[in-house]
Amino acid sequence: MEKNMNKDIERILFSEEQLKSRVKEVGAEISRDYKDKNPLLVGILKGSVVFMADLMRAVDIPCQIAFLSARSYGLKASSSGKIDMDGDIEYALGAHAQGRHIILVEDILDTALTLYTVSGRIRELNPASVKICALLDKQVSRSIDLHADYKCFDVENEFVVGYGLDYAQDYRNLPYIGVLKREVYSAD
Ligand code: XMP
Ligand code: MG
Repeated sequence: MEKNMNKDIERILFSEEQLKSRVKEVGAEISRDYKDKNPLLVGILKGSVVFMADLMRAVDIPCQIAFLSARSYGLKASSSGKIDMDGDIEYALGAHAQGRHIILVEDILDTALTLYTVSGRIRELNPASVKICALLDKQVSRSIDLHADYKCFDVENEFVVGYGLDYAQDYRNLPYIGVLKREVYSAD
């Protein structure tokens, strides 16, 4: 049966145009703060790919990119509370994390368990600094004390998809961010 992605969206939160202009602002902030620091932008796969592609072009100072794979949700719409990290982290970063200014690029900060785990692993590699740039910051009370140093938007505690964010691997290619209709995932 053919799927119509748009009809599964309850309402649009951020349009393509809103995303574009806000990501440009955050890119400009990073460019100012990291002038002459040659930052390494590290995206958390897969949710950050669309954001990373736009953000890196909004950064107008020299920088490099790398990606790490981490998962907490599996196929569900709520966190499993366990983080799987794939592959060799030093290899993924080109074994050059030591002494580097690292910016972790994440699609959405929810419980913060993913970034807590990933940033802990990265700090073991002795970088010069580690900061967090999140596209979305979910307004939830967290037991983990971690915040985004850069963020594009706050969102309520609702399940959102699009612009890289998925539900069971679908909807990542929507050009906007929207709230997924509850009936789509309530069977879980
Ligand atoms: P934690 O809880 O570790 O979660 O901060 C971060 C990861 O959980 C996923 N996540 C979502 N994915 N819509 C999504 O498509 C959401 O509303 C949502 N909330 C959390 C996401 O993969 C993120 O990297
Ligand atoms: Mg996900």
